Amino acid sequence: MTTLKNDLLLRALKGEKVQRPPVWMMRQAGRYLPDYIKLRKKYDFFTRVQTPELACEITLQPIDQVGVDAAIIFSDILVIPQAMGMEVLMEEGRGPLLPKTISTQQDIDALHIDDIEDRLSYVTKALSLTKQELNGRVPLIGFAGAPWTLLCYMVEGKGSKSFDKAKQFCFTTPAFAHSLLQKITDATIHYLIAQVKAGADVIQVFDSWSGMLSPADFKIFALPYLTQIADAVSPHAPVILFPKGSWYALPDLCNTSASGLGIDWSITPQMAREFTNNSITLQGNFDPSRLLAPISEIKKSVREMIDAFGVDRYIANLGHGILPNVPVDHARAFVDAVKEYEPAPNYTTV
Ligand code: CP3
Repeated sequence: MTTLKNDLLLRALKGEKVQRPPVWMMRQAGRYLPDYIKLRKKYDFFTRVQTPELACEITLQPIDQVGVDAAIIFSDILVIPQAMGMEVLMEEGRGPLLPKTISTQQDIDALHIDDIEDRLSYVTKALSLTKQELNGRVPLIGFAGAPWTLLCYMVEGKGSKSFDKAKQFCFTTPAFAHSLLQKITDATIHYLIAQVKAGADVIQVFDSWSGMLSPADFKIFALPYLTQIADAVSPHAPVILFPKGSWYALPDLCNTSASGLGIDWSITPQMAREFTNNSITLQGNFDPSRLLAPISEIKKSVREMIDAFGVDRYIANLGHGILPNVPVDHARAFVDAVKEYEPAPNYTTV
């Protein structure tokens, strides 16, 4: 096994002292990079995802071109519903579409989870290939969608401003909802452990729509499943949970087996530290739209962000995915600002 030349991410997740925080960007592999856009003209979305050589090439682009401290495998959260037997269409510029949605227990029973690793072997192949190509330059992140976020797509069939159809399903037929969430959880655990065996050094779970849930409903429909995943996967690799919009859940989530929690820009670093008792690594929380500001402004806000989080137990990142209209030199300025960071002269660690 190659040893990592840059292990900042792993050290930050262990809570070890670092010279500066590691930096990567959610959705860094993709749509704002000119070389990705060229590939998009040649191959459709799922061809890019299912061809290990293409997925590997796309994964490496931000390492070479933006200089981030971690690679995240190019794939999508919707490969799980697809592998469970649902049709998933990705319309360029319009987002995902699942024509036949889940509404009955029969629909749930028809989903298969037994051979999930085989059905997703293109992801594990892409991970092994990427691991080899990285040659220890930076750690490799594997990922999956959280059960609640996947339920949203599987029941709603597409993106939504309110996900009311998904919520109606949960509130009117909670037993079906829990059987679906459990089935997704079981599949996800197998899938994520297979990702670690194939070379992923860290796992992130994206709960992109958890903020749609009230704090009480989060405890019912999201937390138990995130906890199961963190418990099952963390003996294999450190787990980062990203419950977008659910700052209220930080006190519960810091008591799971996760090593890191991702936060968005709806909470200050100070509040997040307080809610988590200073006991866990935090990741975030730069407003992705701020990357559209002038470069000097980006660099200033990044310094302020690190001052607020502190250097240790911190992973610099955006508070959600990078936007397609961000100029590459602005993304690079974000990364450079973290790499150039020096604590203020009066800075003392507590
Ligand atoms: O982080 C990375 O760079 C790895 C690649 C990655 C993709 N999707 C590639 C992709 C990751 C981590 C995802 C996760 C994902 N997919 C999430 C969770 C993260 C988040 O943003 O909340 C969600 C909700 C999805 C579902 C999904 N896939 C949507 C809503 C869309 C369309 C809108 C969009 O974001 O562009 C996709 C398509 C998709 N997945 C694209 C990429 C690069 C865009 C299609 C393209 O550029 O060809």
